[in-house]
Amino acid sequence: MKETILKVTDPCKKLEFDLSKPLEIEVGCGSGGFLARRAAANPDCEFLGIERMLGRVRSFAHKCQKAHLSNIAVLRLEALYTFHYLLPEHHARKVYVFFPDPWPKKKHHSHRLFGPLFLAALWKRLEIGGRIEFATDHREYFETVEECFSGNEKFRRVEPMARPEEVWTEFERDFRSKGMPIYSAAWEALAGDDKALEPLKIPPEAEPREGVKRRYIAFDIAESQEAENISKGEC
Ligand SMILES: C[S@@+](CC[C@H](N)C(=O)[O-])C[C@H]1O[C@@H](n2cnc3c(N)ncnc32)[C@H](O)[C@@H]1O
Repeated sequence: MKETILKVTDPCKKLEFDLSKPLEIEVGCGSGGFLARRAAANPDCEFLGIERMLGRVRSFAHKCQKAHLSNIAVLRLEALYTFHYLLPEHHARKVYVFFPDPWPKKKHHSHRLFGPLFLAALWKRLEIGGRIEFATDHREYFETVEECFSGNEKFRRVEPMARPEEVWTEFERDFRSKGMPIYSAAWEALAGDDKALEPLKIPPEAEPREGVKRRYIAFDIAESQEAENISKGEC
């Protein structure tokens, strides 16, 4: 991969990967400790982190550049949009979603990542036999995600990866130090009806409004110049 921070200049153009190499993706990768360690240990695989917070993207990029990792990149973009529009079809062998924001209040549940739209886009991007690994400290969200997958015939539940200390993420380390429970699960993509994804509709509450930070839009497009500066080490 040429740049550590990927730029999206055309919101309809798919990101380019070396399709001869496997791809692993982490959604909401934070400052990227887990993925950077995997990239260092697996030089023949490509890795992509997706994270919407600029400070965490900066820290992720800094980590990768310091370790001279050339097989990893980070994208500052909303994950559902990225999965829906920007990733190659049936190419990722693993997708990791660790400690996604649980949005515990009922009125905020629509902000949660897992739901029918994400599952449809996730399946489209995973290779058949590819896996999603999920972990959370939030029991109710865990059960909701379990329900979501159990009603979906394109996924089969499998044994989740082991969680020795080397794979702990920043949030996991913190939760464990406070004695909080960790729930984890994994699912495998099965062969199924490969129909095209319906275009995404932005819910009215997520429409851009003056003074309100956009949640769903490809905000890194407007800020691509800043991303370019960061990758050049100018910020
Ligand atoms: C609770 S943190 C966990 C970070 C990391 N996975 C860890 O375990 O240390 C959730 C992260 O996901 C990011 N995030 C949440 N929703 C996202 C979305 N829809 N698209 C991209 N990033 C998202 C947040 O900015 C935040 O950094």
